Amino acid sequence: MSSSARVAQLYATPVGKKAVMAVSGLVLFGFVLVHMLGNLQIFLPPKDGVHAIDAYGQALHVNQPVLLTARLILLLAVGLHILSAVKLALLRNNARPVAYAHSTAIASTYASRTMYWSGPILAVFIVYHLLHFTTGHAHPEFQFLRVHDNVVRGFSVWYVSVFYIVAMAMLCLHLYHGVWSVFQSLGVAHPRYTPVLKLAAKAFAAVVAVGNISIPLAVMAGVVK
Ligand code: HEM
Repeated sequence: MSSSARVAQLYATPVGKKAVMAVSGLVLFGFVLVHMLGNLQIFLPPKDGVHAIDAYGQALHVNQPVLLTARLILLLAVGLHILSAVKLALLRNNARPVAYAHSTAIASTYASRTMYWSGPILAVFIVYHLLHFTTGHAHPEFQFLRVHDNVVRGFSVWYVSVFYIVAMAMLCLHLYHGVWSVFQSLGVAHPRYTPVLKLAAKAFAAVVAVGNISIPLAVMAGVVK
């Protein structure tokens, strides 16, 4: 059997789909962490009249091949992540088409039960976010490559900031359960390490959410102008 046929055969199984969810999730997790660190440059003082985040944005856009490759990888990861999530949800529903009359969660956590609605909310957030800060279609004062101004003007509208903060809270829940699931799907989890792994997942999720939420809060408080 050819290796591509083997990959297709593995993907056809629930374990294969979980592995795809885990690997694409790891790629997306790496992106949100690096993106959050890049965003925090909004707090750096300008150098020679140039905001650090504007210089960063320009450096990314100048290197078109790198930007295009990163965008293609991200798009592929998002596509595979959503596709596997939908397929796993369908498999779960087909296994039990009629819901239990009474169900009490025993082993599932609040974060794990939220995956199937925090995921779609994040998908809506990402579409809005791209129209807001990347293409500018949802930003009345958008200026190409004026990242600092775009962010400050964007978050000066209180309900936009509130929406970002709510989306980041969703991201926190999604990342917490997602990172924990990756450990399980990839077979890293072991009862002895469970508390440490859960703590690590919580810490990662909290760092990304708090780092991102600090930006709209700082703009609304007038700390970043
Ligand atoms: C408060 C939090 C965030 C801020 C301030 C922020 C800021 C920005 C800005 C300014 C850009 C445009 C950069 C440029 O064109 O030079 C951007 C692009 C982007 N952001 Fe965010 N972001 C935040 C959170 C997120 C989150 C949580 C995600 C994913 C879940 C995300 C995904 C993206 C993507 C996919 C792009 C497009 C990258 C590309 O150009 O290919 N962002 N963000």
